[in-house]
Amino acid sequence: MISRRQVQRLVAAALAARRNAYCPYSRYPVGAAVLTSSGRIFAGCNVENASYGLTLCAERVAMASAIVRRQTELKAACIVGQGARPCGACRQFLFEFSTPKTELYLVDVSQNETRPKITRGLVRKMLPWPFDPLASGLLSRPPKYLQGVSK
Ligand code: THU
Repeated sequence: MISRRQVQRLVAAALAARRNAYCPYSRYPVGAAVLTSSGRIFAGCNVENASYGLTLCAERVAMASAIVRRQTELKAACIVGQGARPCGACRQFLFEFSTPKTELYLVDVSQNETRPKITRGLVRKMLPWPFDPLASGLLSRPPKYLQGVSK
């Protein structure tokens, strides 16, 4: 499990990113942050578009920004919003970079934004029957960051 300090940093980064959400259509801001194996944190917010279907979810923005820095191993992800839950697409997206231990922190700001309700889970528990790059044969061996990690 990641330390309390890391949880605090992760939640703070996601809360800050949520303030920059571009969501003029839904008016539903979402913030996300991911902690990678090097201990770095990357944040994201939702980015909407007048062509609604082009909208980017906060979690995917955060994870993509980690990938830009070659930070592929996900230790923990955090999502902040009113009744925050990652959508199905984001669960699959995060699954790709997860290990069986990758944690997920859901930060619900609906009651109290300064003292939000934090729930902990595991990324892999959030997606039963995932589309698995190994099981599908799309990858013949686990990506480097997953080698030596038990299933
Ligand atoms: N949204 C996210 O950013 N992450 C999710 O997992 C759920 C939905 C955004 C997309 C859209 O901008 C707004 O929330 C309402 O659906």
